[in-house]
Amino acid sequence: MNSEVVQPEANVCLQACNTLRLPARAAWLYRAATIEQLCDAIDWADSRSLPLLILGGGSNVILAGDFPGLVVKIGINGRCWSDVSADAATLELGAGENWHETVMYAVRSGYRGIENLALIPGTVGAAPIQNIGAYGVELSQSLIDVQVWDREARDIRTLAANECEFGYRDSLFKRNPTRYVVLKVRLRLAKKAPLNLMYRDLQAYFGDDVEPDSLTAEDVARAVIQVRCRKLPDPDMLPNVGSFFKNPVVSLEHYQALKIELPELVAYEGPDNAKLAAGWLIDFCGWKGHRESHVGVHNRQALVLVHHGNGEGRELLSLAARIRDDVQSRFGVVLEVEPRIFPVDMREAFGF
Ligand code: FAD
Ligand code: EPU
Repeated sequence: MNSEVVQPEANVCLQACNTLRLPARAAWLYRAATIEQLCDAIDWADSRSLPLLILGGGSNVILAGDFPGLVVKIGINGRCWSDVSADAATLELGAGENWHETVMYAVRSGYRGIENLALIPGTVGAAPIQNIGAYGVELSQSLIDVQVWDREARDIRTLAANECEFGYRDSLFKRNPTRYVVLKVRLRLAKKAPLNLMYRDLQAYFGDDVEPDSLTAEDVARAVIQVRCRKLPDPDMLPNVGSFFKNPVVSLEHYQALKIELPELVAYEGPDNAKLAAGWLIDFCGWKGHRESHVGVHNRQALVLVHHGNGEGRELLSLAARIRDDVQSRFGVVLEVEPRIFPVDMREAFGF
């Protein structure tokens, strides 16, 4: 390691580094293109007792104020196939690779497994952090392992999928945000794996008559892209971080009591609990399309908060806190913010 060679930029505007585009500056910013550069940068920050923030595409962070430490933007690229058999193959990816381009590369190569995750913004390295999921599929279903820099052990480790403690928008990494930096990800994909068309929007897109066997992974990816473009705002046109809150998981008793009162409530019922559609709850409270000067709630998806420009982090967090409080008093359900909020004092100021 040689932290002497690291030369971060000082006092850098972060607006171009995240999809919400709120005003925020980093005391220091460094772009790491190799694992060695990343480790040197971490040493550089540690030797100065500076906090560290790892950034990929910035599509799941709320930079609500200035970051007083070192921001490292991950640009570790690389993509190759290995262990290719007649049907299956392993796709090895550097953390800085673009996720959506990876999906399109896989489906065009004829492999199935991640087609439902098309058009999710951001990098490969961030994908295991919250175990990205969409349209009935989660990353954990295709993931073999994740190579990380373990800041506690000061070593490179490989964690198998079953060691990553994946859950709904959750993982070991999300719960230990300062310990692990993802360096590489390996996915196992197959040419003959079944396509997953269970999600209501995909069923509606293809209709009842379609024979799943007649479709390719690329057909499904294209359908997902179209469905997403209808609902979700393009962050380049209207800054956002996708779903602002997680869909809350409640007990079956709580769900059944709500369902009696509100038969149209949308939820996914499991054997032990139910996941409520947070977008439906927020929509029901009348927030959809709400706008207050610089920030608001998207008019096609109430779970997406948007920044109309010239706003500040505290305006967005204040709106989010009022939505959370409204949903809690109406349904007795506490909404949890999905992206991570920086700096910590801003997160705490609004009770997130
Ligand atoms: P960033 O925002 O840069 O980082 C996110 C978090 O991961 C931060 O805490 C960061 O510190 C950490 N991190 C990033 N890279 C690393 C690394 N290499 N090692 C360790 N920690 C790291 N998510 C879904 O799951 N499903 C969706 O359908 C979905 N749709 C979206 C739609 C839109 C329009 C938007 C804007 C976002 C959406 N998201 C969705 C959220 C987001 O795209 C994903 O969470 C994505 O994986 C974030 O990638 P990123 O590179 O932008 O991460
Ligand atoms: N709904 C409303 N009003 C709204 C929004 C939604 O009534 O304003 C209803 C919809 O009609 C639907 C239900 O709520 O019946 C669910 O909506 P949708 O299918 O859009 O999905 P979601 O639960 O809101 C989740 C993920 C998305 C992911 C989609 C597709 C979370 C927090 N969000 O959204 O992920 O793309 O499903 O699988 O789990 C993200 O994490 O950033 C993200 C965009």
